[in-house]
Amino acid sequence: MDIVHTIADVRQQVRDWQRAGLSVGFVPTMGNLHAGHISLVDAARQHADRVVASIFVNPTQFGPNEDFDAYPRTLNADAEQLRSAQCNLLFAPSVDEMYPDKNLTWVDVDALGDHLCGSSRPGHFRGVTTVVSKLLNIVSPDIACFGEKDFQQLAVIRRMVKDLFMPVQIIAVATHREPNGLAMSSRNGYLSAEEKQQAAQINKVLQALSAAIHAGNHNYRALESEHSQTLEASGFKVDYLNIANADTLAPATSPDSRLVIAVAAKLGVTRLIDNVTLVV
Ligand code: PAJ
Repeated sequence: MDIVHTIADVRQQVRDWQRAGLSVGFVPTMGNLHAGHISLVDAARQHADRVVASIFVNPTQFGPNEDFDAYPRTLNADAEQLRSAQCNLLFAPSVDEMYPDKNLTWVDVDALGDHLCGSSRPGHFRGVTTVVSKLLNIVSPDIACFGEKDFQQLAVIRRMVKDLFMPVQIIAVATHREPNGLAMSSRNGYLSAEEKQQAAQINKVLQALSAAIHAGNHNYRALESEHSQTLEASGFKVDYLNIANADTLAPATSPDSRLVIAVAAKLGVTRLIDNVTLVV
């Protein structure tokens, strides 16, 4: 696996592959890789002849009081994992390479970005869609893989690709979990061993909610507040726990059939997110 740091180098390699008739799959990440990221690389390998991964901790998607500086940067260990997963090329640009001038052009997906994490992380999705647009323009892959763990991010990116006629197919990959149900995340590294056990409660609450809805309880606002209280009582500070329409991400109402139950909650200093989808 080659590691390149410049836009020119990644473009050259991808152009060579595509001219040789090989399809290219892309997995954008912020590094500190875990088995969830590697499942995206595996999915990309199944859909394309060559796989490019990127590692870039994108400053524009972090709020002023968020963990941009503290975000773990572990390039050597990440490269090792990507090599074992048979990734073909790693693109690891600097901030100057991706933002050489003051950035004046932003990609912003209305409405979808306003719900769930949008209200508590203003500007976050604009940073994500802007950097993902840059990365897709640089790599020009045939397919790109994103995790369902970040359900809203996936929805926003799908919509951006559709609205802007971007010539790439987006592949969704199921959430990879610890044996206790905790969704894998680079931020789990901030948790103590005890907090890791406690954090499994998030998925238990999502499963309980899902079961209640399947059993016929469609009183969504009451379910949200009851289960938020359960999480608060177990030591979480709940940012939101929403039963939403899976297509619009707006609060679900009774006639909606495709639902997502999405949660963001802080355990100590660590903000965790998770979701489950269901059809009623
Ligand atoms: P990052 O958090 O590193 O995640 C990179 C990709 O891995 C995303 O598509 C995310 O949904 C997926 N992922 C993370 N944890 C996962 C898990 N447990 N199971 C399955 N997939 C998982 O998301 C970002 O980076 C950034 O916002 C990015 C898209 C790279 C733009 O900067």
